[in-house]
Amino acid sequence: MSKDDSKITESVIAAHWKEEDYVHPPSSFIGQAYLTDPSVFERFSEKEFPECFREYADLLDWYKYWHTTLDSSKPPFFKWFVGGTLNASYNCVDRHLAKHRNKTALYFVPEPEDEETIALTYQQLYRRINETAAMLRDFCGLKRGDRVTLHMPMTLELPITMLACARLGVIHSQVFSGFSGKACADRIVDSGSRVLITMDAYQRGGKLIDHKGKADIAVKEAKEQGFDVDKVLVWRRYRGNYSSETPMQKGRDFFADEVVADYHGHTVEPEHMEANDTLFLMYTSGTTGKPKGAQHSTGGYLSYAAGTSKFIQDIHPEDVYWCMADIGWITGHSYIVYGPLALAATSVVYEGAPSVPDAGRPWRIAEELDVNIFHTSPTAVRALRRADPDLPKKYNYHFKHMTTVGEPIEPEVWRWYWEVVGKKEAVIVDTWWQTETGGFLCSTVPGIDPMKPGSAGPALPGIYPAIYDEAGEEIRAGSGVAGNICIRNPWPGRMLTVWGDDKRFVDTYYARYNRKKNSKDWRDWPYFAGDGAMQATDGYFRILGRIDDVINVAGHRLGTKELEAACLLVPEVGEAAVVAAADKVKGSVPDVFVSLRPGIKPTDEVAKKVSDAIADEIGAIAKPRRVWLVSDMPKTRSGKIMRRVLASLVAGRDPGDVSTLANPEIVEELRKMVK
Ligand code: WTA
Repeated sequence: MSKDDSKITESVIAAHWKEEDYVHPPSSFIGQAYLTDPSVFERFSEKEFPECFREYADLLDWYKYWHTTLDSSKPPFFKWFVGGTLNASYNCVDRHLAKHRNKTALYFVPEPEDEETIALTYQQLYRRINETAAMLRDFCGLKRGDRVTLHMPMTLELPITMLACARLGVIHSQVFSGFSGKACADRIVDSGSRVLITMDAYQRGGKLIDHKGKADIAVKEAKEQGFDVDKVLVWRRYRGNYSSETPMQKGRDFFADEVVADYHGHTVEPEHMEANDTLFLMYTSGTTGKPKGAQHSTGGYLSYAAGTSKFIQDIHPEDVYWCMADIGWITGHSYIVYGPLALAATSVVYEGAPSVPDAGRPWRIAEELDVNIFHTSPTAVRALRRADPDLPKKYNYHFKHMTTVGEPIEPEVWRWYWEVVGKKEAVIVDTWWQTETGGFLCSTVPGIDPMKPGSAGPALPGIYPAIYDEAGEEIRAGSGVAGNICIRNPWPGRMLTVWGDDKRFVDTYYARYNRKKNSKDWRDWPYFAGDGAMQATDGYFRILGRIDDVINVAGHRLGTKELEAACLLVPEVGEAAVVAAADKVKGSVPDVFVSLRPGIKPTDEVAKKVSDAIADEIGAIAKPRRVWLVSDMPKTRSGKIMRRVLASLVAGRDPGDVSTLANPEIVEELRKMVK
């Protein structure tokens, strides 16, 4: 990294772990696993590409079989399974009715422990999706290709609404419920959603949280941006009882649970969607301020979600599978809803926080529902371990398989997960992937590969990564040298493009390592993931973290630019710089430096305003750990803020040579301050 580089990135501050010893999957797991034959790597090797991915697509039911597995005539806009038609809702529900009609498709576990768990069978899910689809079509006038924004918490109505959209070919764009009304507005406007679907309230952290108010803010904000929302559908957390303080606006707001009653018993024929029609949008943070809508396909995405759920998650129809992520993130889309339901599994939707009312809650849920596959983030594992490291031992549940996702997991935390949570009976997969990739890219194949704590593992079958240096040269495979991880080939789960912005798609993911601009050969178009990584001699990848201006807080991606823009909304603030600080539980958290306008006194009140502005603009998850009010920022002579220096100070590291700064004296002052 050059001296003048103003960026300090997650990969630079990543902990340096030593290589760990292998841990072997339990034989009880291997005995029942779907994928135990190492010839899979032959079947999915480069010489079998792209036809190898037929195996994933064949897990689905197609109305019309495709004629071209991969169309790479317009790189990097690759198309999979061209000519094929299918419907995601049909694949996740209808086709299972013959065999699994009376089997639980979804469990809903409310956060309050005295509220009953609800089990919804495939038959009931089918009914509710159809009735909801009829309402969306006939009451809201939604049709194939329209977008609809969902801002829903973790309840059954969320997957039901998503699958109702999929049935109609309506593109859903679910915004994480913890995001603010303003963040929701930006996504409404960008996607052009005339309908917003929300819920009045939800239970989280021991409280009934009023959520409908955010919809009012979202609609108002969208209007200010020149975009009208026609209808707001409001599901009620307690049917028939409205739990929000905000009034319903006549002619605009409707109780979905009331309206849907008019469609009792209605059925809706699933639309025959083209494989490359859009199934959904999922907005994610990038290097610049505006979040990007990752646009996912119907055929490629669903094939990849199903294939990886089967071979990496090892989900069998008789399993009870619980992914503790929120459906508002890509993990929830692929591995709570689409993947597991495509395989006719039972998937658990838990409403609340992991430690409510205490850190034994996840293990009681696992015990009660007989969960045997468990999926969560390192942040949650750290938090549960910290609360009481012996607690899982008191509960009589048995996992066969556990997943970690979203951020690197420290070997010590991994070992607790393995020994105490998994009781050494459960295989662990550390899955590396992104919103943009639709499904896993690196992980061990649990029935074949040994595990290595702290390493995601080798690439998945059919994924061919390479690590490049800054100059674009490939770093020798297995050399243990860090660089930028890329995927050399297209794969079916990858997003089609950035919604409404093809250029940004190409610039963000392909411009950096594209070899020949007009090449029609996919080999010239490596996908740039934006993560630092290194590959050990055994082929296992260790992911070091983001190399761009993205902070990964508790496994959630936040753009530093978005956070800085929020700080600048506070009138007292002159300049703002956000850096990632290491955190024992969340991996990293934002630390905010602000310099105030001339004449403004640094007070706790101003600091609070900054913190509140971030919560209002983006959501409470983005709240900074500290807001440092400083007299000036360390700057280069050209006036760029040196975030690298700030990050070093926060980490208690030597910021190195600062003599070339325009104002080197400020560094000492800041060092004393953050100490
Ligand atoms: C990080 C979440 C280390 C990475 C599925 C990536 C990980 C970003 C891992 C994507 C892992 C995800 N080990 N880091 N197993 N999984 N990441 O889009 O920096 O919310 O680029 O998707 O999370 O976050 P996103």
